Amino acid sequence: MCGIIGYVGPRQSQDILLSGLSRLEYRGYDSAGIAVIDGDGGLGMRKRAGKLAVLRDDLASTPLADGTTGIGHTRWATHGGPTDANAHPHLADDDKLAVIHNGIIENFAELKSELIGEGVTFRSETDTEVAAAMIGREYSRTGDLVSAFRAVVSRLEGAYTLLAMHKDHPGLVVGARRNSPLVIGLGEGENFLGSDVAAFVEHTRKALAIGQDEIVAITPEGVEVTDFSGAPVEVEAFEVTWDASAAEKGGWSSFMAKEVSEEPEAVANTVRGRIHEGRVEIPELDGMDEFLADIDRILVIACGTAAYAGMVGKYALETWTRVPVDVELAHEFRYRDPVLSPRTLVVSISQSGETMDTLMAVKYARSRGAKTLSICNTQGATIPRESDAIVYTHAGPEVAVASTKAFVAQITALYLLALHVGRVRGAIDPVAAVDAVTELEAIPGKIARVLETEQGRIEQLAHWMADTRSVLFLGRNVGYPIALEGALKLKELAYIHAEGFAAGELKHGPIALIEPGQPVFVVVPSPRGSGEMHKKVVSNIEEIRARGARVIAIAEEGDVAVLPAADEVLRIPLAAPLFEPLLAVVPLHIFAMGLAEAKGLDVDQPRNLAKSVTVE
Ligand code: F6R
Repeated sequence: MCGIIGYVGPRQSQDILLSGLSRLEYRGYDSAGIAVIDGDGGLGMRKRAGKLAVLRDDLASTPLADGTTGIGHTRWATHGGPTDANAHPHLADDDKLAVIHNGIIENFAELKSELIGEGVTFRSETDTEVAAAMIGREYSRTGDLVSAFRAVVSRLEGAYTLLAMHKDHPGLVVGARRNSPLVIGLGEGENFLGSDVAAFVEHTRKALAIGQDEIVAITPEGVEVTDFSGAPVEVEAFEVTWDASAAEKGGWSSFMAKEVSEEPEAVANTVRGRIHEGRVEIPELDGMDEFLADIDRILVIACGTAAYAGMVGKYALETWTRVPVDVELAHEFRYRDPVLSPRTLVVSISQSGETMDTLMAVKYARSRGAKTLSICNTQGATIPRESDAIVYTHAGPEVAVASTKAFVAQITALYLLALHVGRVRGAIDPVAAVDAVTELEAIPGKIARVLETEQGRIEQLAHWMADTRSVLFLGRNVGYPIALEGALKLKELAYIHAEGFAAGELKHGPIALIEPGQPVFVVVPSPRGSGEMHKKVVSNIEEIRARGARVIAIAEEGDVAVLPAADEVLRIPLAAPLFEPLLAVVPLHIFAMGLAEAKGLDVDQPRNLAKSVTVE
């Protein structure tokens, strides 16, 4: 779970590497390093435990010699703790070869013993240094870096992207990928490699997606891609649709603050181009009508926040398509014997498109004969490339570790999918479909209103609650996954105990947690949707209030029934019941961010977490 960048071209590479790494830091931030082949043909390397800023300061006080070929790495530790020694790059071949790596080499222990038997000594505890030593050993036999890669990759098991350069070959960076991301950036007289396009988007928007089990060699003049056996392969070109400024903080206190403010846009951009004459038509699904009309089950697989988006989506999918829907955590799905058939549509949801648990579940579903559709926010990422169909969310780059704008975009994409499939199957009444489209188009404006009217108040509340040790979240129906999302955000950002419950479940156990002063957020369904459900949730509020809970209700404008029962009421604009989650989640995102900030924590990079979880 690391970020990697490679550069060859006419420019001094250090700044390019450091600025690329700053955009990749979301992938890992416990240590960082760069290596550069300098103008005199020497190989300079610097690596430091800690955030990128530590490396940056170190280089500012004692710079490396300039050079125009370089590789850089930002790490999230797997093998070996976050120390200077374990940081990448790792050197081999008498320190003439530098290697960086993302992923896990599963058979590294056995390979390491083999190398130790040959007299190789190691300076780190990493699996990467083993790969570096193997590439160095092969290179010293042939003097050819690409063929050294080819010989080594056939012996590595697990998931990896490896980049290497050798001081005897300035102007050449070689990379290989298996189950880990790598993309090529094409410049004028310069080329780039990166874990994703954020690594090089400030220099070029032209990119090539490298497939699994492929090796790439970049020089300033060109790019060559072969499979692991050496046969040339065609690579798919794509244009990055966002620019570098979209990945900058743009004056906000944190990426998370910026990304929450972009929630309206994330929904609007995901809807854009998918509504024609008032009906949803997803162009990416052209040609799939026959299959979609015939499916008998939808299975949604995802992890974390993306899985909660899936749980929200289930309500819309079942309502509008009348196809049964199950939502499952990707890591649970894969290790049992699920019932799948060619009529099952497996929908994966992933912001990064690289989550290993989700990727492996997609591959597994495919191998069992199901059709797979990826809802993803990252162009050219692995999960969409491994799927039969793709519906991209257009939330723009999400840098903060905690997913926010991608969450609302994922729900939006699921709703679009539900309306598309419902139409194809003739399962949704055309008038209901038009109403749903009207609602969806109005959502960005309504989210903007929540931000405008409630943000200050919620931040104030979070500030007052900075010493809170535990917060509970209750919701019912579509509000239930929102309660789970509110709790997850608070755990990961503010490091306090938080739990989300289905409100109806209270009396089956969780009510025992209520003691005087216990804060409880309650997502209150609209009284206009199901009056009965609304009444039940208001009764739940009364039950917990009677036991001393401090209730913060999220309720629609004009719902006066909650007033006597709640201590605080956060208002959301009126929306049809299925669309309320897109509004109700916004105060919870703001609250978690506000409380973490009030505690002085780093909301963009919470401890122990990385943005893209590329290990199982
Ligand atoms: C929580 C969060 C995570 C991710 C999960 C899946 O705020 O961000 O729970 O949602 O790790 O990541 P993706 O969507 O990249 O597959």
